[in-house]
Amino acid sequence: MSQSASVEWWNKSLDEVGLHGMDKLVDSSGSWDALLQSGREDLARALSLTDMTTGQDRAVLEIGCGVGRLTAALADRFGRVLGVDVAPTLIEEAQQRNTHQSVSFEVCDGVRIRPNGADFTCDTVFSYEVLYYLNRQSLTTYFEDAFVLLTSGGQLVFHLNMEPIRVSTRLSFLFRRALYACGIKQFRGWPTGAGLKRYFHSEAWLRQTLTRIGFRVERIVGPNLRQKWIVAVKP
Ligand SMILES: C[S@@+](CC[C@H](N)C(=O)[O-])C[C@H]1O[C@@H](n2cnc3c(N)ncnc32)[C@H](O)[C@@H]1O
Repeated sequence: MSQSASVEWWNKSLDEVGLHGMDKLVDSSGSWDALLQSGREDLARALSLTDMTTGQDRAVLEIGCGVGRLTAALADRFGRVLGVDVAPTLIEEAQQRNTHQSVSFEVCDGVRIRPNGADFTCDTVFSYEVLYYLNRQSLTTYFEDAFVLLTSGGQLVFHLNMEPIRVSTRLSFLFRRALYACGIKQFRGWPTGAGLKRYFHSEAWLRQTLTRIGFRVERIVGPNLRQKWIVAVKP
């Protein structure tokens, strides 16, 4: 699947599956308030697992913010929040819905994380339910960019689904692409479509790559392989 197919899918996702595309656990008929509440709950779980440092004196960049579900929750805990996403329609929705003065949103190209403003730095780079859509090369580039954007002592905190890709997973990708081609946009509560291919990144590869870039990997934790959190610090 090409990067442009992925961007195209995400860009259409609001029209095709609604807010449900942000998180399958959000009811497809769910309200904006329910979406924000789910973001607060997801962030609270992330904080309890990762022990991520927060504070009103800190700035956070969120990769793959979508419509701003977790961005709003991050605004309650950080002084400044920048959400970036590849899908212009999602960023537009996020901007229209945003009620926090400390929050801003930008479209990124999906290749580099280059916020507008040459001197942008942050204390935390955060991402939830995004980075397993990136292949090794793209993910490595994002890690390198995060390292440059972070201040010394800053944290890169991100979620990955680390379940290995099995034959059944591949068949499921194909099946979902076929359903989408037939006009079926959701199956068993999951959106279909080519833009939803997941990549597997092993713990060994993550540790090696992050360490090579200069990070200190602090922890890789989570209740199961689908909900793994990685905390890496820029020394
Ligand atoms: C499952 S949604 C999660 C959105 C948000 N993090 C949340 O939990 O509500 C995945 C998001 O990742 C974005 N995305 C996909 N590939 C990306 C990339 N290469 N760079 C930045 N964002 C990306 C999509 O546009 C989409 O908004």
